[in-house]
Amino acid sequence: MKTALGAILITEEEIRSRIAEMGRQISRDYADHTVTLIGILKGSFVFLADLIRAISMDVPVEVDFMSVSSYGDATTTSGTIHIEKDLGIPVNGKDVIIVEDIVDTGLTLLHVYNILSGRGAGSLRVATLLEKPGNSKYEGAIDYVGFRIPSKFVVGFGLDYAQRYRNLPDIRVLDEI
Ligand code: IMP
Ligand code: MG
Repeated sequence: MKTALGAILITEEEIRSRIAEMGRQISRDYADHTVTLIGILKGSFVFLADLIRAISMDVPVEVDFMSVSSYGDATTTSGTIHIEKDLGIPVNGKDVIIVEDIVDTGLTLLHVYNILSGRGAGSLRVATLLEKPGNSKYEGAIDYVGFRIPSKFVVGFGLDYAQRYRNLPDIRVLDEI
């Protein structure tokens, strides 16, 4: 498939101000708690880096990452998920927020959610920068959503197509040409 970088869907400035709001909301919700953010690699690393700095320094924050594969280089989701890199810290009894770049079918999220709840996380919430409609597999609540976007393939701000475009400061549509 031939692709080309398309229009800007969400600007750098819009992302910045939305993440600041999300950080304020998390700071309110977790006042007096330690919160453990689990970033799903690789896509979430840019969002997570900004999000932790938007959380009040009065809230103790722990961070770890997990890498699961679902997409490969294609733009459709396969039904299988494989843990490529596991967490380095235990989550049992902890107040965890799963941090995703984008929830599309919800399959990745469903698997990660089940893994972390199976390990005895004390509480489990979800933050995603982007959500596409038709998130059919994961039926739980997504507690913090940055932006709801149309069903288009997007790149930038950590999101890739075949490992490219993660460095774009904004979110763009990837067009088929
Ligand atoms: P899901 O399992 O279908 O919800 O897909 C989740 C994962 O697929 C995300 O963490 C992304 O890595 C990838 N993904 C889904 N949609 C897009 C997109 O539009 N652009 C880039 N990656 C995407
Ligand atoms: Mg991802």
